[in-house]
Amino acid sequence: MNITIIRVPDYESMSRQAADFLLKKIRELSSPVLGLATGSTPKGLYEQLISIHQTQKISYRHVTTFNLDEYIGLTASDPNSYHAFMEDAFFRHVDIPASQIYIPNGEAAYLEHECTRYEALIDKKGIDVQVLGIGQNGHIGFNEPDTPFSQLTHVTTLAESTREANARFFSSPEDVPKQAITMGIASIMKSSEILLLASGARKAEAVTRLLSGNVSEDFPASVLHHHRCVTIIADDEALSEFTRKEEEHD
Ligand code: F6R
Repeated sequence: MNITIIRVPDYESMSRQAADFLLKKIRELSSPVLGLATGSTPKGLYEQLISIHQTQKISYRHVTTFNLDEYIGLTASDPNSYHAFMEDAFFRHVDIPASQIYIPNGEAAYLEHECTRYEALIDKKGIDVQVLGIGQNGHIGFNEPDTPFSQLTHVTTLAESTREANARFFSSPEDVPKQAITMGIASIMKSSEILLLASGARKAEAVTRLLSGNVSEDFPASVLHHHRCVTIIADDEALSEFTRKEEEHD
């Protein structure tokens, strides 16, 4: 299997291991390009990277970042936009120059043009490591089930289950945007390496399905079996169902 699985006891250790993984690239490469995700999963990773920057005085000045996605219809200053999330959770605490931070512009007047522009930037810089979370329905980025594996950055309609899962961040479920710009599966697959993080029982079913090895567009994360270099850092709860099934087979 092209997928390395690192099993850790809990969210805290997942975040620490993920930070060590990225730190290695940050130290080794002269101009590392990191693909970043939002949501609950990578928050601890960002906290770890902030703490390393502040306590060990490690600079991220040479790092470039590309975020996976952004809602359409929220201004960048809206607290629920992914611009605001990233600023708050990571960027304002570290020294990555603003000119090296890329997030799709969900306010663009011509969204199709924005998608092409973003994809061209990804091609120009090349992503060294793409960090991914996984949706309970198997989405990566906002590539919902049945998104063609061939799609590049595009405008997508969020699955109702995704809107429900993300409603926890909004004051009312109706406020969750219906559309987003997301890097496509083909954009994600261009990255030299992929680091997928999963924590908690809520992700156990998706992780089991991912590790089953069946590749199908109705489960977007399964495409990772076609990538040459994938590391999954998952905690005991996220791996619980997979382990139980493996033990049943033994
Ligand atoms: C976030 C993203 C999504 C999330 C996924 C899991 O930029 O693209 O694919 O990674 O929805 O979200 P959490 O981590 O909140 O469970």
